[in-house]
Amino acid sequence: MTFPSIRMRRLRRLPALREMMAETRLHPADFIMPYFVRPGKGVRNEISSMPGNYQLSVDVLCEECAGLLETGVKSVILFGIPSKKDAMGSEGYTEDGVVQTAVRALRKEVPGLVVTTDVCLCEYTDHGHCGVLNGETVDNDATLELLSKMALSHARAGAHIVAPSDMMDGRVGLIRDNLDADGFADTIIMAYSAKYASAFYGPFRDAAESPPRFGDRRGYQMDVRNADEAMREVNLDLDEGADIVMIKPALAYLDVIRDVKSGSDVPVAAYNVSGEFSMVKAAAEKGWLDEKQAALEMLTAIKRAGADLVLTYWARDAAEWLKEG
Ligand code: PBG
Repeated sequence: MTFPSIRMRRLRRLPALREMMAETRLHPADFIMPYFVRPGKGVRNEISSMPGNYQLSVDVLCEECAGLLETGVKSVILFGIPSKKDAMGSEGYTEDGVVQTAVRALRKEVPGLVVTTDVCLCEYTDHGHCGVLNGETVDNDATLELLSKMALSHARAGAHIVAPSDMMDGRVGLIRDNLDADGFADTIIMAYSAKYASAFYGPFRDAAESPPRFGDRRGYQMDVRNADEAMREVNLDLDEGADIVMIKPALAYLDVIRDVKSGSDVPVAAYNVSGEFSMVKAAAEKGWLDEKQAALEMLTAIKRAGADLVLTYWARDAAEWLKEG
């Protein structure tokens, strides 16, 4: 007998065979592209910590999104940089806020695009925390009311999906109730269910101008060491009416993505966050990594772990790369 009789390499021999055997496939419709929107006209400020990403005014955002849609990416998530910040984050829930204005414009100018909004106060508060302060802690119940106003203002502007990222307890339930009571029963809630207090949000906080002025977010975001707790968060959000659950960040939490995918029957999203993006960009600039190969490998791994949707700053590039083959 010749050894070995089972040869795994048989199935890897040709590009066509590898294509046939692939267990995971990326598709542009898997991706959600984040954008940062700020007041003004003709504004396109590059974010130094996130090369290739910009703070955009609404007019430029609309042009950008029209191009994005042509690549096959169906959805964007919007973050706002307000003209002024205060203790209550009031610009986050005014009718003519920057995100509300952007949503209305996108719904009109870019039909076919699925518009998602991030619901959180940290970009709008002068202290940079995700809710209202009581001394140095974020007051959960006082924050809920404001988050729910914010979600409602996004829905009124035309958002298809609202995505609460604050990690307050009970926000999904209250947002669902208030959306339903106001006639927005069809507005989808994508809950940042398992959002960890991670070091990988650094570049985003530059982009959104939202670092906490004191302390950190460990009193409300999840402890990096926990996985069972993620399932508990997911189940709570589902009980409260979440349609899609999200794990964030993605790469250091592939085990959590897998647990959530196996332990639930709802669409699972994962956020390939700013730090995961920027570290590859930085290494690529130094010639240490091939950006395209590394990015596609990461996105594939996130999907292989169980994510149905991936929020990623590579959405547009990846869609183009997939077309190139
Ligand atoms: C808002 C929010 C953050 C991110 C998404 N929504 C920042 C944070 O919690 O500090 C991070 C996204 C990224 O790093 O790409 N709360």
